[in-house]
Amino acid sequence: MVSNKDLISIRDLSREDIEHILKAAKDIDENPAKYSNLLSGKILATLFFEPSTRTMLSFQSAMSRLGGKTIGFSDSKTTSTAKGETLADTIRMVESYSDIIAIRHPHEGSARLAAEYSKIPVINAGDGTNQHPTQTLLDLYTIKKKLGKIDGLKIALIGDLKYGRTVHSLLNALSKYENVKIKLIAPDTLQMPKEIIEDSKGPEIETGESIDGALKGMDVAYVTRIQKERFPDLEEYESVKGKYRITREMVEAAGKKLMLMHPLPRVDEIEPDVDTLEQAKYFEEAKNGVPIRMAIIAMLLGKIK
Ligand code: NCD
Repeated sequence: MVSNKDLISIRDLSREDIEHILKAAKDIDENPAKYSNLLSGKILATLFFEPSTRTMLSFQSAMSRLGGKTIGFSDSKTTSTAKGETLADTIRMVESYSDIIAIRHPHEGSARLAAEYSKIPVINAGDGTNQHPTQTLLDLYTIKKKLGKIDGLKIALIGDLKYGRTVHSLLNALSKYENVKIKLIAPDTLQMPKEIIEDSKGPEIETGESIDGALKGMDVAYVTRIQKERFPDLEEYESVKGKYRITREMVEAAGKKLMLMHPLPRVDEIEPDVDTLEQAKYFEEAKNGVPIRMAIIAMLLGKIK
């Protein structure tokens, strides 16, 4: 199981591990009082070298709701990194100030590197374009809570599939389920990298560029932001920005069965008047970040078996 280790990539978890975390999160969700002192005396360090709202705050909220405390930063310019300190040295310091670390960093592989240096558990809260495993766990939790299962679902991943780490982790995770059918809808230049598709064997995968009719027949449509900050060339960004816009009409035409998700933040890819539709589940999705992160922290610290 995941206790006393790190959570770096969703690929490191088996389907059983994933199900175990989702089950623990469900119990936390339903019986919060049972867990309110579980981590009293423990400290979570949130090291955020990249912007974040939901991920960082939900990690902090999760730790507080478990009775623990948090330290950390959300702007590395205010830390010794700005003076040239290496990640390895930062980690060696932080491990003596805390019991567990959640790290977000712009470089792929940085969370794995941090875990190699750290004696305490490390959770990857997003490493560049690579992985965002806790987001995937809350996405799966949201799907299961609403639809009761993940096996057999038809799921469209839409938007920036090249640079978006949430969809990389999610595709890896979905490949562990049975009979999942996946549509990858993206501008050709932003399609899912081949290595990730190869690493996600199992689901039937169809790729396309057009958003027209893409929501039809889907159980889940998972929309993502074009990751402006990852483009080496801003001109390339300008050529794809605003390309996909989910409108109220499109969601209504897709029918009530559809569940519309988004890791957030959104820019313009889902119009605000979609928010009040029954199909829009993205704010609920964000809310589920708390019980999921509570389960992960408590498991890694060995307090939930
Ligand atoms: C995502 C991220 O940081 O990868 N946000 C999140 O954690 N909920 C998605 C994004 O920034 O577009």
